[in-house]
Amino acid sequence: MIDQIKENIKQLLIDKLHVEDVTIERPKRGLADLAIPLFGFAKAWKLSPQKVYEKIEPILSHPAIHSIEYVGGFLNIFIKRVEFSRYVLIEVYEKQEAFGEQFFDEEPIVIDYSSPNIAKSFSVGHLRSTMIGHALKNIYEKCSIKVTGVNHLGDWGTQFGKMIVAYEKWGNPDDVEADPINALQALYVRFHDESEKDTSLEDQAREVFRALEEGDKKYVSLWENFRTKSLEEFMHMYDVLNVSFDSYHGEAFYNDKMDAIVQELENKGLLQIDEGATIVDLGRDLPPALIKRSDGATLYITRDLAALKYRMDTYGAKRVLYVVGNEQQLHFKQLATVAHLLGWNVEIEHINFGLVLLDGKKMSTRDGKTKRLEAVIDQAVHEAKLAISDKNPSLEEKDQVAKAVGVGAIIFNDLKNERHLDIDFNLSQMLKFEGQTGPYLQYSSVRIESMLKDQRIDIANVDFDVYQIDHYFELIKLVDQFPEIIERAKDQNSPSVIAKYLLSLAQTFNSFYGKERILVADVHRLQANLLLARSIQIVINEGLRLLGIESLKAM
Ligand code: ARG
Repeated sequence: MIDQIKENIKQLLIDKLHVEDVTIERPKRGLADLAIPLFGFAKAWKLSPQKVYEKIEPILSHPAIHSIEYVGGFLNIFIKRVEFSRYVLIEVYEKQEAFGEQFFDEEPIVIDYSSPNIAKSFSVGHLRSTMIGHALKNIYEKCSIKVTGVNHLGDWGTQFGKMIVAYEKWGNPDDVEADPINALQALYVRFHDESEKDTSLEDQAREVFRALEEGDKKYVSLWENFRTKSLEEFMHMYDVLNVSFDSYHGEAFYNDKMDAIVQELENKGLLQIDEGATIVDLGRDLPPALIKRSDGATLYITRDLAALKYRMDTYGAKRVLYVVGNEQQLHFKQLATVAHLLGWNVEIEHINFGLVLLDGKKMSTRDGKTKRLEAVIDQAVHEAKLAISDKNPSLEEKDQVAKAVGVGAIIFNDLKNERHLDIDFNLSQMLKFEGQTGPYLQYSSVRIESMLKDQRIDIANVDFDVYQIDHYFELIKLVDQFPEIIERAKDQNSPSVIAKYLLSLAQTFNSFYGKERILVADVHRLQANLLLARSIQIVINEGLRLLGIESLKAM
C-alpha cells in the first residue's frame, strides 16, 4: 500500500513539476513515512532547498497524506495513520493467508531443482538446491505465475557404464537391496580404485554405456533397478522435507529426443567435427559445447538441450531457472549460448548458491566425517525433541512438532542468507529458540496463537485510533510490506528476502509485546490488539510456508 502511495506521489510530482524523475525514500529512521531529498532540485533550479520545498508544498496533495514538513533538505511526508492501518489490517483479515498474493502477467517458467544423481548419495549441494528451488516455486506461485517444478534426475551418463561393470564384477544383489545408495556408491569408488591398476576397465565401461544407450536388455534392467532403488531413498527424503515435484523426468527420459536436437543443430549449420567428436563452437570466450563423443555417446549438455526443448514445447516455458551450485556455471553459460545460437525463444538463468561449511570447512558427503544427510536431519529432529520436551513437557504430538522444528531449522538456516554466500551448518545454533532461526519464527507464531486462544476478533469493535501510536504503526507498516517483499524475493530469485523480513517482523512484534499488554480490559483496545497480533501471525505463517517451513499451533 505504502509503495503504491509512493508511486502515486511520484507520478503526481513528475507531471506537475515537468521533471524526468523524483526520488522518494522510505526512511528507516525517524518518524516520516516518506521523504523527498531536495538537493537535486535545488541544484538544478538554483534555489535553496527551503525554497524548493515552498515551491512543491502547494502542489503536493494526495488523499493519504496527513501532513508534510521541511527538515534539513528533505520534504518529509506523514501519512494518515488511522486510515492506512484500517485499510491494511482489514485486507489481511479478509484475505487471511491469501494476503500477499499478486497477479503478475509473466510467462510460465520451469524451475529445475534438487536433481540429484542416481546411485550416489544426496549431497549437501542437492539439499540446498532442493530448498531454494522449492521456496522459489512457492514465491512465483504466490505471484500467480505458472511454474513447473522439475527434478532433472541425473540418471544417465557414462557413470552408469562404470556402475554396471563394477556391479557385474564385484557387486552383491543383497547389499544393493539392503542399502542401495551406499552399496552402489561403494562399487563406484571401487571401480575408480581398480581402474588405476587396470586401464581396460574404462574401455569396458564405455562399451557398456554405449550398449545401454542402444537399449541392451540386461543392462537396461540393471539400470532400472539402480534407478528405482535410489529414487525410493530420495523420495523418503523429499517426504521428510515436504517437497514434491511436478515432473521427475531425468536425463534418461531424453534418450529418444536427442537425435532431433543433433539434427536441428546440423540443419542450422552449428555442428563441427573435432578429433572425431561433434561440437558446437562457442567463440573465443567459451570452450566448445561437446554434443557427442567420438564413440557416439551423448553428453550432459546434449541431454540438457533436449530437456530445454521439451520444457518449451510441453510446459510453454519461456524461462527456465536452474538451481545448481556454482561449479556448473560454465555449463549453463554454454547451454544458454547454444540455445541462443539455435534461435530458441527461451531465457536461461543459473540460480547459483554457495557452499555448506562445517566448522569453517567445506562439507561434502564423500569424506567420512560427515554423516548421511538423512542422519543429519534425524539428529536435528532428535535435538528439537529434547528442547521441546524440556520447555513444554505436557505438549501433545511431540514427534510431529519435533519434526517440524528440526526440519524447519535446517531449511531456515539454508535460506536466511543471500544464496550465493556460503552457509554454516551448525545444528545447535540453528535450533536455538531465539536469534535468527526457524524455531524462533515458529515460536513467535505459537506465542501469538496462545495469546489469541479463547478470543474472538470483532472488527466492529476495533478502535482504529490506537494504531496512531508509534510502536503500533511501525508494525502495521511492516505488515503492509509483505506483498512488496514477495515481489522483491521473486525479482532477485532470493528467498532470503522473505527470511530476513520475517525475522524483523517477529523481532519488532516481540519487542512491542514487551511494552504493551495484548489482553487489556478495554474492549476496543483489546480488539485493536487482537487484530494486529492475528495479522502478524498470518504473515509469519504464510512467510514460513513460502520458505517451505511448517508453522505450528503449539510447541
Ligand atoms: N544432476 C546434476 C548434478 O548433480 C544437476 C542437474 C542440474 N540440472 C540440469 N538441468 N543440468 O550435478
